[in-house]
Amino acid sequence: MPTLPHHKHRRAEFLASIDTPVLLFAGSWIARNYPANWSPFRADSTFLFFFPSPEANAAALFDPKDKSVTLFLDERTPTDALWHGPVPSFADIKKFIGVTSVERRADLAKLVKKKLGKRKAHTLAIPDPRATAEACAITGETLDFYDSAKVANPELIQAIANLRLLRHPEELASMRAAAAVTQQGHVLAMARTRAGILEQELVGFVEGAFAKRGCVPAYNTICSVRGEVLHNHAHHNMLLDTDLVLLDAGAENAAGYCGDVTRTWPVSGKFAPEAREVYEIVLAAEKAAIAAVRPGVRYRDLHMLAARVLTEGLVAMGLLKGSPDALVESGAHTLFFPHGVGHLIGLDVHDMEAFGDQVHYEKGRTRSSQFGTQYLRLDIDLKAGMCFTIEPGIYFVPAILHDAKFRKQWKKEVDWALAESFLAMNSLRGFGGVRIEDDIHCTESGAEVLTASIPKEVAAVEALVGSACG
Ligand code: GLY
Ligand code: MN
Repeated sequence: MPTLPHHKHRRAEFLASIDTPVLLFAGSWIARNYPANWSPFRADSTFLFFFPSPEANAAALFDPKDKSVTLFLDERTPTDALWHGPVPSFADIKKFIGVTSVERRADLAKLVKKKLGKRKAHTLAIPDPRATAEACAITGETLDFYDSAKVANPELIQAIANLRLLRHPEELASMRAAAAVTQQGHVLAMARTRAGILEQELVGFVEGAFAKRGCVPAYNTICSVRGEVLHNHAHHNMLLDTDLVLLDAGAENAAGYCGDVTRTWPVSGKFAPEAREVYEIVLAAEKAAIAAVRPGVRYRDLHMLAARVLTEGLVAMGLLKGSPDALVESGAHTLFFPHGVGHLIGLDVHDMEAFGDQVHYEKGRTRSSQFGTQYLRLDIDLKAGMCFTIEPGIYFVPAILHDAKFRKQWKKEVDWALAESFLAMNSLRGFGGVRIEDDIHCTESGAEVLTASIPKEVAAVEALVGSACG
């Protein structure tokens, strides 16, 4: 078990920032069918932030009054050792992790009540509903992990977010490690691409590359010739020589840190002229947004910069008509770029998204009501140490391009016949979509692209695609 002074330091910082005791839970196994057949255990990210390799069912009480951290763990029994192998003793854990004391999980309610006396405590809702219910029964709160307005008391959310928002050097090292494994998955998928295989085979290469290096997918892998379906998790299509494949996949390492990368490439290994044109526009938008990263910049401005570059490209292609500024102002670009340019990344692939816009939107800023732009997940001013993605795209989405309201609203601004031709391309399969996504660390001098080693220049992508197919 790793002895990590970083975790101890984080716990001390947290204790110094709270004035009410806090009870945190790691969560437990979730059954995938009958109770003893579990999905792999993954501790809640905040618990993972404070404790290395948390055990399932672990909980902790942080008490600012005496600066103590009490860790509660399941008792070690011969039966557990029989089925799951031996586990370190409470005494060893106390020493390794450096907490004030380790107690039996079965005694949690009794001991917490005794320690709190008349004082109140707060807790945090987590993905495991049983743990959340147990925690709420002790603190008397009514919380719901699946409702960002009810995930925890706002002061507690802020105290946690203050610590999780800016990456310490050891976290950056872990992010770089996750990025390196993410690179292996993407490169293998590109190299093994050929017409005639199923999307699922590429998913197998990607996730096999992660597993081989002790990682799991940080989220459901998106791998599709239907790139216009933003979160397409169906992988049954056979690749055609005329298809573009969009792969959005990231590795999560044992420490819980994630990668989140999108690349798009032609199955044939050679971009068709219109595919290359769209690809180069998206690449230019991505690079422009990355080049603008520095402390103090408003994340929304990166989004708008990417939107502006995409719009200029769409005007050059004849798909949009008019001045790029006016088009962006009116929101016409959202017909082809209907999502935000990215999100925080860390222990959650959309880091701390469960905490809601309290963390992701600067005080006084609210979500746009404009279609597309309303999906911008982040609108804070950047600080050195923040990690986030940049992921612009251009998509040809039948449901958008056939929407009567949009056709009326932007009657003059769109060449609808030309847009329609993209839906009919590729033997009516349609053009699909192009997205390019990298993971960025904001430094004092600009962007560090954590995932820079994953090819994205046209020549590099074309050289790699199919290169391992013999
Ligand atoms: N990786 C999927 C997303 O960022 O939404
Ligand atoms: Mn992403």
